[in-house]
Amino acid sequence: MRTTTAPVIRLKNYTPPAYTITHVDMDVSLAAEDTVVTTTMKVVRQAGTPTSAPLVLDGDELSLDGLWINGDKADDANYSTTPVELKIHRLPETAAFDVTIRTRLAPVKNTKLMGLYQSSGVFCTQCEAEGFRRITYFLDRPDVLAVYKVRLEADKATCPILLANGNPGEAGELPDGRHFAVWHDPHPKPSYLFAMVGGDLDVLSDTFTTASGRHVDLNIYVETGKAAQAAYAMDALKRSMVWDELEYGCEYDLEVFNIVAVSDFNMGAMENKGLNVFNDKYVLADADLATDADFANIEAIIAHEYFHNWTGNRITCRDWFQLCLKEGLTVYRDQEFSADQRSRAVQRIQQVRWLKSGQFPEDAGPLAHPVRPSAYKEINNFYTATVYQKGAELVRMIATLIGPEAYRAGTDLYFERHDGEAAVVEDFLKCFEDAAGVDLSQFARWYEQAGTPNVDVEEEWDAGSCKYTLVLRQHTPPTPGQQSKKLVPIPVRFGLMGSDGSDIEPRTRSSAVKDDVIVLTRRETKVTFTGLKTKPTPSLLRGFSAPVKLNFAETQASRLFRAEHDSDLFNRWEALDGYGLSLLSDDATGGSSFTEKDREAFVLALCKTALDDSIEPQFRANALSLPNEMAVARNIGKNVDPAIVQQSRSALLKSIGRQLGKRGLDLMTKLDTDPNADDLAASGERALKYSLLPFLLVSGVEGAHNLAQSQFVQAKTMTDRMGALSAIVHFSGDEVMSEQCLEAFYDRYEDNDLVLNTWFTLQAMVPNAAGLERFERLLDHPKFSLNNPNRARSLLGPFAANNPTAFYANGAKGATLFAQQIMTLDDKNPQIAARLLTVISSYRVFKAPISDAVTEALRTIRAKEPLSIDVQEIVDSLLS
Ligand code: PHE
Ligand code: ZN
Repeated sequence: MRTTTAPVIRLKNYTPPAYTITHVDMDVSLAAEDTVVTTTMKVVRQAGTPTSAPLVLDGDELSLDGLWINGDKADDANYSTTPVELKIHRLPETAAFDVTIRTRLAPVKNTKLMGLYQSSGVFCTQCEAEGFRRITYFLDRPDVLAVYKVRLEADKATCPILLANGNPGEAGELPDGRHFAVWHDPHPKPSYLFAMVGGDLDVLSDTFTTASGRHVDLNIYVETGKAAQAAYAMDALKRSMVWDELEYGCEYDLEVFNIVAVSDFNMGAMENKGLNVFNDKYVLADADLATDADFANIEAIIAHEYFHNWTGNRITCRDWFQLCLKEGLTVYRDQEFSADQRSRAVQRIQQVRWLKSGQFPEDAGPLAHPVRPSAYKEINNFYTATVYQKGAELVRMIATLIGPEAYRAGTDLYFERHDGEAAVVEDFLKCFEDAAGVDLSQFARWYEQAGTPNVDVEEEWDAGSCKYTLVLRQHTPPTPGQQSKKLVPIPVRFGLMGSDGSDIEPRTRSSAVKDDVIVLTRRETKVTFTGLKTKPTPSLLRGFSAPVKLNFAETQASRLFRAEHDSDLFNRWEALDGYGLSLLSDDATGGSSFTEKDREAFVLALCKTALDDSIEPQFRANALSLPNEMAVARNIGKNVDPAIVQQSRSALLKSIGRQLGKRGLDLMTKLDTDPNADDLAASGERALKYSLLPFLLVSGVEGAHNLAQSQFVQAKTMTDRMGALSAIVHFSGDEVMSEQCLEAFYDRYEDNDLVLNTWFTLQAMVPNAAGLERFERLLDHPKFSLNNPNRARSLLGPFAANNPTAFYANGAKGATLFAQQIMTLDDKNPQIAARLLTVISSYRVFKAPISDAVTEALRTIRAKEPLSIDVQEIVDSLLS
């Protein structure tokens, strides 16, 4: 559709559907060029709808091949079509009637990967958010819930596997080498959860018995020859099923749970009822092919999609504005699952890292929107870090505010009250209000208001009366379209540390304090503590108890004290990270807030942590990963010169490397790598090992160069191989060795698409003009393609998002090249084009000549004809 006419959809205009559909019976004959879909739907007129009201069904790029009402062929005069709808005018007067629609599709030509498409020859579907309307005309909205029966037929040789939602039914042979299979899903569901698959796939099977004794067959379907690579995913699935029973009382509700992994997929994975479809990146793994980080992602995403069975499928969303209702809650659930399976503190550090690098910039820039947006043009643009990650933080805050028992009572009530329904955020909040006897009306503002609240903290110590006072003030900066902000409740988990570093039992009469949480509901909250002998050191926002920016003029000494002694491990990490960020920002702006002594103290503290064997290795690895260039640039906020940021960062890396010296090298050699990739202790050691290596290489520690090379050559796992390779390419300064290793890696994995993506990503991060040149060369590499979303993302994403010295080199030529790719991609797959474009949303922090070049590149994109609504909506925001 022409972009200039794209309508704005608004939450306030929601109206219930005039008709609903209760039953869907589909007959699908799969063929690459000509798939025939015959759908019979039982349509029910809703109370209050006059019989004269037409039935308006959604459609997108469909070709209508036949229409029947109650089995009678419809008269041409009885209906009309536009590119986006089918309108049926004269309908039977009975409250319910059948509509049968036949459409013909060419899945092989579907490059948008929405609706029915082919991925490496496998037929598969993606219907969230509005893909079902690309299969048949339908009331394609989440508040229309129907029971589906699907009969699939296809050529048996090329499509031996035929799957759809629900439980398997009849199956059998047909003439001409074809066969069929019937699937029946007894649970009413919205059309976005519909899925079907046909293809030649291998399977890894297992079984699970639920708490109440239901037997479930588990199957993971993958490309032929790769079933063994699904073993970790299967293990993660079974652990997720147990966890959801224990933690939420949620049991699985069908006879089978199927997962299909495909190589062309727009997102991570999709929770279709009983038939999850996954990007194969989040299924396939073994120690030789996947890094430890890949394993952790697989675990989290398998859990996430499985958990959607209750939070998303059994209880779904009334409309797409409520997306956070299923996504925020489900992310919170998968985060807690990972925290229980792994190290809770490390998981929290990684979640917050992601929130700060992905969501905070969204809230601070032109794409800012509330967790529950109030308007959109293209819903696919709202699968954002704000809806997902900040949405999860809101659920986490509810749990913090009411406590774990009341939280569980609230979710129990939610499942009991809304099972089988399409709900709204208010329904969800009401369950916690009723279960906990609290008022969440002020809390509801968190869902309406964009922007990251700031919390400014001041302290007062009255030595005479031994009173210690904290003054906390909140304010949320304006965001596009939301100038003035309301106050929100902010839970600040805290501790007061005594001079020996241990926590003091806080004594206060303040009503804002509940156990170890201060709840800020007003603009200013003052809390006075008594009975202290000396001035305590406050540790605030422990565990990152709220998604806010904390401004506390803490001394560097106090930060280091907390880094060493805080009983909250998350805050120990935060103290170091915050120190590093301020130091780097100060350096890069020629500031003078840090003395040479402050700098040395930081380097010493970091090295001490890195070398302290009493702390878990994965935590130490996180402490060592300094804020990246973009984090520093955003923290500075304006007129940033990427080259200067880079210089400051390299200088700090060198100082740390020199301080680590031989001890760092000895530690590296001592950290053994157990080739068992799913051994958590071993993976922690590997993480530490490869976080040390860059420091040793940049500072030229003797032996580091050789060690890097031998680690690469003798690597027993992909984590070793990638850890060594990336350190060599980015930090050794040895171009000959870098090229040799890159080539060796390429030769070994040339035919493995997933691994090859990491080869592209690694090079997309090569800095400066050399990185720009390399990027340009890689765009022409025979293995680079915009047709596969993973491949497109692997090169374009990191280059534009996280490599500012290359992106902005040569007058920001990277921006021009990037824009060209986005425009080409827009014609194939607008959803991916728009999503990739969002990664440059912080461009305005850079100094004028280079950020102006980005504006120019964006204007070029805006002028493209035709331009998808997806990209138009993002470009317009980025330019506004
Ligand atoms: N609902 C999916 C998830 O978060 C994400 C998704 C959205 C996948 C749209 C495909 C299309 O689990
Ligand atoms: Zn999800």
